[in-house]
Amino acid sequence: MKVKQVKLIYFSPTGTTQKVLESIAKGTTVKDVEHINLTLPEGARQTIPPFSDELVIIGAPVYGGRLPVDAINRFKQLKASKTLAIIIVVYGNREYEDSLLELKNLAIELGFNPVAGGAFIGEHSFATEDVPIANGRPDSMDVQKAMDFGSKIRDKVTALQSSDAQIDLEIPGRFPYEGGVRAMTVSPVTKEDTCTVCGTCASVCPTAAISINDSVTTKIELCIRCSACVKNCPTGARVWEDSMMKKITNWLNENCSTRKEPQVFGIDM
Ligand SMILES: Cc1cc2nc3c(=O)[nH]c(=O)nc-3n(C[C@H](O)[C@H](O)[C@H](O)COP(=O)(O)O)c2cc1C
Ligand code: SF4
Ligand code: SF4
Repeated sequence: MKVKQVKLIYFSPTGTTQKVLESIAKGTTVKDVEHINLTLPEGARQTIPPFSDELVIIGAPVYGGRLPVDAINRFKQLKASKTLAIIIVVYGNREYEDSLLELKNLAIELGFNPVAGGAFIGEHSFATEDVPIANGRPDSMDVQKAMDFGSKIRDKVTALQSSDAQIDLEIPGRFPYEGGVRAMTVSPVTKEDTCTVCGTCASVCPTAAISINDSVTTKIELCIRCSACVKNCPTGARVWEDSMMKKITNWLNENCSTRKEPQVFGIDM
C-alpha cells in the first residue's frame, strides 16, 4: 500500500506530543501531512470527516499512567473504517503504564487498524528550570528515533496489501486499566506584579479555565494541571504554588531523573 497522506491527530497542551508526531511523520517522507489538533476547545469543536485510506498518527500525553480524560473525549468523535493508525503516548520520564494499551483499544473501537505504536518521552508538564524532569525532551536523539520509526512504518505499510490486513499489535499494559490522575482541585496562580495581562495563558488553556479582564481569573474546578499556561507565560508570572504540587514535582525530580528511552511496538528497530 502506498501512503499518500499522513494525518496527525493529537491532544498536546505543552507541545511535546505534537513534536513527536511531527518527527514520525517527517520520517515517513510523505509530503502531504495534515494536522488535526484537538488540544484547544475550538479545535475540539471542529467537524472531522471520517477517515479512509490515509495513514493516521494519533497521540496523547500520559496522565497518571492513563490517557487524559479530555483526550479520550476528543478522540471519541473520530470515525474510521480500517484506517491504518500509529498510536503514540508521550510521558514525562516516570512511566506510561496502561496508557498505550488504552489508546490501542480506543483506536480499534473508533474503527482504526493499529499498525504500530510507541511510548516516547517528553519534558514533564510540572518541570521547571529549577526542578527539572526530562527537560528539553523530546531532544535531538528522541527526534532521530521518531524519524527512524517513521521510516520503518512507511516500509511496513508499503508491504501491506490493503488497510484491512490482519495486524496483531502487541502492547504492554493491564486490562482493566489501573491508575489515573489523582483528584485535586488546584490550578497555577498568577503573580500580579509580573503579569502584563497579555492573555497568552488563556489562549493556550485546553479547558477554557482562564479568563482575562483587568486581571487573570482561573476557574480552578476546570484545571487539568496540564501546565500549558505556566510554560507559555512570557514573563514567568504563571506558577505552581500549591504545596502538594510542589511535593509531587520534587518527588519526580528526585526519583525519575534516570533517562528513559522511547519504546516502539510493531516495528523492529
Ligand atoms: C496531570 C498530569 C499527570 C501526568 N502523569 C504522568 C505519568 O503518569 N507518567 C509520566 O511519566 N508523566 C506524566 N505526566 C507528564 C506528561 O505525560 C508529559 O509531560 C508529556 O510530555 C506532556 O505532553 P504534552 O507536551 O503533549 O502536553 C503527567 C502530566 C500531567 C499534567
Ligand atoms: S500569560 Fe502570563 S503575563 Fe500573560 S496574562 Fe497570563 S499570567 Fe499574565
Ligand atoms: S489553568 Fe490548568 S488547564 Fe488551563 S492551561 Fe493552566 S494548568 Fe492547564
